[in-house]
Amino acid sequence: MSITPPRERAGHSSRTEVESLLHAVLCPRCSADLDLSAPILRCRKCGQAYPRLGHMPVLLSDPLGYLASCRRQLDRLERQVKRTVRDIREQLQAADVLPLTRKRCETTIEGITGQLADVRAILEPGLPATTRSEGQARSQQAPATLHHLPYLYRDWGWRSEGDGENEQALSMVEEMLGYAGPGRTLVMGAGACRLAYDIHHRHPDAEMMVMDLDPVLFAAAHAVTHGGSLTVREANLEMGDMNQAVKEWSLVAPKGPVDDARFHFVIADAVNPPLDSRAFDTVLTPWFIDQGPEDVRDLISTLHRLLKPGGRWVNLGPLKYDLDVPVSRRFAREELFDLAERAGFHVGTWESATVPYLVSRLNGRGKVEWVLAFSATRLEPPAKGSRPDAGPPPWLVFRHLPIPTFEGQALFWSEASMIRMVVSSIDGRRTLDDIARRVAERADQPDISMSQVRIAVRQCLQLVHPTCAHNTKQ
Ligand SMILES: C[S@@+](CC[C@H](N)C(=O)[O-])C[C@H]1O[C@@H](n2cnc3c(N)ncnc32)[C@H](O)[C@@H]1O
Repeated sequence: MSITPPRERAGHSSRTEVESLLHAVLCPRCSADLDLSAPILRCRKCGQAYPRLGHMPVLLSDPLGYLASCRRQLDRLERQVKRTVRDIREQLQAADVLPLTRKRCETTIEGITGQLADVRAILEPGLPATTRSEGQARSQQAPATLHHLPYLYRDWGWRSEGDGENEQALSMVEEMLGYAGPGRTLVMGAGACRLAYDIHHRHPDAEMMVMDLDPVLFAAAHAVTHGGSLTVREANLEMGDMNQAVKEWSLVAPKGPVDDARFHFVIADAVNPPLDSRAFDTVLTPWFIDQGPEDVRDLISTLHRLLKPGGRWVNLGPLKYDLDVPVSRRFAREELFDLAERAGFHVGTWESATVPYLVSRLNGRGKVEWVLAFSATRLEPPAKGSRPDAGPPPWLVFRHLPIPTFEGQALFWSEASMIRMVVSSIDGRRTLDDIARRVAERADQPDISMSQVRIAVRQCLQLVHPTCAHNTKQ
């Protein structure tokens, strides 16, 4: 699937300072303005409609494909649960099963079937009827349903404690924010939304937008933060003690509902968010930068684009990248700070800590993680002399920086049409993203992703641009 990254419109900042963040949203297909306050969402330019999951707009280039994939996730989960129940029942046919074992297995069956019913009750009411059939486009997969459920228990179910996981996360982020309020804030990969909710309650003047792709987490978070109460069972196949098999958690928002005018849910890809440039004072990436983007450097460009000059990127998380991320891109703290500086940020306060992570209040199991918190301010214009002495030119690394023209460019010729096109696109203003978009439009191959096109453009630049050649020789 190819997603068109929103264009940086010349001289454009957020539409007006007084408008709500609802007006900072763009059509994911054509980047035209999209008014999120309208009851029916349809792009006036390209005509694409954006249905909602419950009350939450699905701002993806193929929203129906996404909703169909949510439905398929539910069906797949149901099949999985049925298979597990059948297996357990077969095992219970054996003559050597102890009464206690039988009791444990029956409790487990009850737990997992109950959990399935809970997930259905969260998600199903929000799915539009048109997605009830199969056969929609399969482009945007919703994340696997059960995988993220512990975030719900932790954020809204487990009892609050002074040094609980939610409290520690809030305190680290508040430390990074310092005295200044967060203002207009985007929370990328907000998950079950507790951190965003806590910040919202601490800062009555802030306006928050929370963004994620997980339909169950978001449907539950939306209900809970609007005053609803849900119950979700935590069920364990592996338990040390028999009373750890299943527990029903009541999910409630401890400080009451959010103010709807200042807290907005958006289902969208936070790596390519359909949002105006310079619309935010703060972008928060909690446990996200190592999970969401294929390449953190692309996300850094996006963060730079979304923030107003002087705006802050606040991060909290472990830098524990997915195994399919190439080792050369699993950046450690020092590399991340170096990248941020090269991209036009100033890295200020930071701290690291080792914290408990999703330690279940049912069975005491979970992890301990090293996490990094930092705050980086967007500079405008990028600091003079920020071009470091060593390393590749920043415009080759990041997709938001203009690529300079070079001597002899007008006479340049290559047999490869792609190289010719890249070189003829360099005008001193266009960025890697701009050129990749031009190349993608000409290539017209929808199954090639923008990130693949960017890689190809980088390779061409590396071959032909004298600054890159000079750098490779260093
Ligand atoms: C490790 S979880 C962290 C959740 C939450 N920030 C927290 O700290 O509890 C990562 C979250 O990022 C979301 N996510 C991953 N890729 C995403 C993307 N491209 N766009 C939006 N959300 C994404 C996942 O659905 C998940 O909720």
